[in-house]
Amino acid sequence: MPKNNDDLMQKIVSLAKRRGFVFPGSEIYGGFANSYSYGPYGTELKNNIKNLWWKTFVSDRQDIVGLDGPIMLNPKVWEASGHTSGFNDAMVDCKECKKRFRADHLVEQSTGRDLEGDLKAMSDILKDEKVKCPNCGKSNWTEVRNFNMMFKTEMNGIDEPVYLRPETAGAIFVDFKNVIDSMRVKIPFGIAQIGKAFRNEIIAGNFIFRLREFEQMEIEYFIDPKTKWEPLFEEWLVAQEKFALALGAHKKDLKKYEHPKEKLSHYSKKTVDIEYNFPFGFSELYGLAHRGDFDLTQHSKFSGEDLTYLDQASNRKYIPHVLEPTFGVDRSVLVALSSAYTEEAVGDETRIVLKFPKNLAPIKAAIFPLLKNKENLVSKAKEVFDLLKGEFMCEFDDNGNIGKRYRRQDEIGTPYCVTIDFDTLADGTVTVRDRDTMEQERVSLDNLKDYLIKNLK
Ligand code: GAP
Repeated sequence: MPKNNDDLMQKIVSLAKRRGFVFPGSEIYGGFANSYSYGPYGTELKNNIKNLWWKTFVSDRQDIVGLDGPIMLNPKVWEASGHTSGFNDAMVDCKECKKRFRADHLVEQSTGRDLEGDLKAMSDILKDEKVKCPNCGKSNWTEVRNFNMMFKTEMNGIDEPVYLRPETAGAIFVDFKNVIDSMRVKIPFGIAQIGKAFRNEIIAGNFIFRLREFEQMEIEYFIDPKTKWEPLFEEWLVAQEKFALALGAHKKDLKKYEHPKEKLSHYSKKTVDIEYNFPFGFSELYGLAHRGDFDLTQHSKFSGEDLTYLDQASNRKYIPHVLEPTFGVDRSVLVALSSAYTEEAVGDETRIVLKFPKNLAPIKAAIFPLLKNKENLVSKAKEVFDLLKGEFMCEFDDNGNIGKRYRRQDEIGTPYCVTIDFDTLADGTVTVRDRDTMEQERVSLDNLKDYLIKNLK
């Protein structure tokens, strides 16, 4: 499958809409600011990804517990974390066409230089080097200024602005004390959360890659400051990469980018991004940061609460350090879609198939009566649907010829199609067709559930 091309991205976007994965947001009103809705199959896919993440990092581990914190937190949380003053992007407007851009991106694209945070230097480069506006081609820029990316709202009874959380991590630190007081957790342990985050990105885009409203799956993994953290850091990187592979990503499409030491925040010992080769090139998929004791120390200072941890074995009190593996849900969905997208020649036709890992497929088995107008076939097919529906997500389809029904299921990535025909009525067997090989096998109805369970693993 060709990579790094607009064509592939267009094909994914169009398939996603046509087949009910992702719709443009508020479309009947002309759309809305690069927002999207997940359609019925997209919702299933996204839930399967979130469930796999939860199973991998919470249910299957003894050392991580879950949390579901609020989207709106006490505004002091964001003062303590530094978001109120420092969660900024460099913004610049074209005075000619009035389009707004990320100044750091313009400078990097035209000069290859990364001037993160240095607004004056960015303004100078845009002017001195006559960097052209990507929209109108002129070079007439405003000064570069900071733009805080947190969304503000109001709340009854609260005088100051309230923010929609820009990351899920904040709520985890806020509840650190509640978790250690109520649970039998011992360091090292983690707190995990999945939920929405909001960032007023200057430019959203690349489909569901950069959104203003998105979902994160984050873990704060608390460790003893005396622990040798490097091996744990490596373990987390491996776990993150393994999760990306479980979405269907190919190893060659993953790479790591370590943030240069001089760009790290003063409290961070190491930050690494896991990048994926999206259809528009390598970009950040997940991140892992060593955040030291910065967050708990800050929240302790701003809240006045003691957030130290008592190590009962050694009777030592300390503020734990934290490793933060963070995963974007929407970027994970985009990885699943783009690595699954396959075109295959079948005779004179091109077959489009989403070859998702079977456990992530929105529909696991589609049940077809061979003919729509034969009551005995339809009622038998409904019986088969009822037999399977409690086990996994199934779909009943009696519309159109079998070939078309297969193509539709291929396009939504359904691993198995089960056809009920006249032989079924005579000998109790059905045809099971495999998405990837297109091979068909006769399976007895008595064995069908076990056959599918075994093959869907
Ligand atoms: N708590 C750390 C944190 O939020 P981040 O790198 O800013 O770190 C974590 O975000 C992950 O969230 C990213 O690796 C990415 O997967 C996802 N993400 C960030 N901004 C996003 C956006 N505007 N749209 C979609 N996903 C985004």
